[in-house]
Amino acid sequence: MATHKILLLPGDGIGPEVAAEVSKVLAWFTRAGIAQFETETDLVGGAAIDAHGVPLSEAAMDRAKAADAVLFGAVGGPKWAGVGYAKRPEAGLLRLRKDLGLFANLRPAICYPALAEASALKRELVEGLDIVIVRELTGGVYFGEPKEIVTLEDGQKRAVDTQVYTTGEIERIAAVAFDLARKRRNKVASAEKHNVMKTGVLWKETVTRLHAEQYADVGLEHVLADNCAMQLVRNPKQYDVLVTDNLFGDILSDVAAMLTGSLGMLPSASLGAVENGTRRALYEPVHGSAPDIAGQNLANPIAMIGSLAMALRYSFGLLEAADQLESAITRTLASGTRTRDIAGPGTNAVGTTEMGDAIVRELQAQAG
Ligand code: IPM
Ligand code: MG
Repeated sequence: MATHKILLLPGDGIGPEVAAEVSKVLAWFTRAGIAQFETETDLVGGAAIDAHGVPLSEAAMDRAKAADAVLFGAVGGPKWAGVGYAKRPEAGLLRLRKDLGLFANLRPAICYPALAEASALKRELVEGLDIVIVRELTGGVYFGEPKEIVTLEDGQKRAVDTQVYTTGEIERIAAVAFDLARKRRNKVASAEKHNVMKTGVLWKETVTRLHAEQYADVGLEHVLADNCAMQLVRNPKQYDVLVTDNLFGDILSDVAAMLTGSLGMLPSASLGAVENGTRRALYEPVHGSAPDIAGQNLANPIAMIGSLAMALRYSFGLLEAADQLESAITRTLASGTRTRDIAGPGTNAVGTTEMGDAIVRELQAQAG
């Protein structure tokens, strides 16, 4: 049996708590003889700043490069609010994305039947929702240069961020979206602002050309990013795969997350290019470090455990194990077990560790 090398980076806030639940699930798969993992753990974000003075040590970066997959918790918190921009906790995550070349960020938003009531939207709008946001992750305004604050002659300051995309960057992310759509409901919506931004003009042009050349069998629609935000809350089920740039993807994926009932539900995969049959990958919950509830056994570990399911599917080729884990999550929710963020009338509110235990119990029950 192949051994899969995992680097676990729990990070800050609720990160270590949800990462601990993932470790339980990994241990179950090993015990059940379904897969074998070699797991290393390292620091990232504020925890790494406290220990090493930087949000990601060189040793941790090397381990990330050597791993088959990185499982990432969350970073940041008020404790590090005063740390300089270059060394802030988030810089550790951005460096991982950039240096591992993780240009494709897949953020599924699935509304579990048992949770339709927890959404801020009416049940009929979200019930059965199953969309994926494909966010470009290593380009655009996040990394474009110049990126600076300069002082002008009159004493004012001027800040610049640069939104920049090349055709190659747009093509490769659009191809990920089209390929994914072919395995789903065969529909892509591409969101940009070609009415205001040059990058939007090039984005739309490039996606249109690639579609005509290689993906004419897939449905394609262009939508302005602001309108897309509105459509996501008006009628989210009209979408299947939604492809967009780094910044719009950041915003639209938070909107999509909330449709599902809780930010604590959404997993994500960040993937690099396929080389020699493998690809670098990092899996993380879409939620942040939630310092306000950290250390209180209140966090919902489902987004993190769902991220492991994505790793089983996309990095380790363990498709059946991924299905088993996802169905264990669904069944646990259906049984009424809920963390506080998704609790409702008539449900059984539990803590982080109890939710992890319940999912492992469900895995065991399914295995018979
Ligand atoms: C996300 C987060 C990050 C981002 C932060 C933590 C840098 O909001 O993954 O969506 O802006 O990309
Ligand atoms: Mg975000």
